[in-house]
Amino acid sequence: MIRLLSYIYPITKKVESKYNGTLEITWHNGKKHLNSKNANYSYGSLQEILKFGLQKIDLKNCENILILGLGGGSVIETLLKDFNYINNITALEIDPVIIDIAKDEFNLLENKNLKIICDDALNFMKHNKSLFDLIIIDLFIDTEVPDSFLSTSFWKDIIRSNSDKGHILFNASLKENIDTKLSGIISLLEDNHYQTTILERVNGTNTLLIASQSNERNRL
Ligand SMILES: C[S@@+](CC[C@H](N)C(=O)[O-])C[C@H]1O[C@@H](n2cnc3c(N)ncnc32)[C@H](O)[C@@H]1O
Repeated sequence: MIRLLSYIYPITKKVESKYNGTLEITWHNGKKHLNSKNANYSYGSLQEILKFGLQKIDLKNCENILILGLGGGSVIETLLKDFNYINNITALEIDPVIIDIAKDEFNLLENKNLKIICDDALNFMKHNKSLFDLIIIDLFIDTEVPDSFLSTSFWKDIIRSNSDKGHILFNASLKENIDTKLSGIISLLEDNHYQTTILERVNGTNTLLIASQSNERNRL
């Protein structure tokens, strides 16, 4: 019923969160979305943006994917449904309210292939000892990527946690003015034998950075 009504007008439920402020779960044109005050978090344009990035990555040899920023879990839906991904996914999320939304509103189920961890991505990466073949970095608070996720120390932890034939997909910004910080990250990646590609204004808004290991490298 709600789905049908949503073709006539959007139906929204609001949920308060300590980390993300007022979150909105909205039915619109038969589909449910998760939005923050000023940004689509999951199952809308964000899902299309990450899908576009994933199309540029060879997922054939990816056995372990790490997602930093679970949100409502739309990139997991994309991996499973559009890319038929059947291997392991670990998803990190700082906000327990968001994890509940992903489970209760978007039917995300933990199972032997999907592990959800409630932690700050910065802290998790600092202590992580596992290797991941693909790391998807989709960390926003509303429209902002927190500064710490543009820092060299965070990116050194990312590189250390990426396998030798690994890939990184970074949803870098909704803004066009993070060029200086992004060029520092690109230099660090290239110094560590990654080939990098920047995709600008994906879906008219976001900048994506894709990095793939080109050959052997010295671990940081
Ligand atoms: C755009 S949403 C992620 C959408 C998700 N990737 C998807 O496919 O539906 C950004 C998420 O980053 C999370 N986040 C922000 N800062 C974080 C941090 N320090 N550690 C872990 N998660 C964080 C937010 O709570 C939010 O859920």
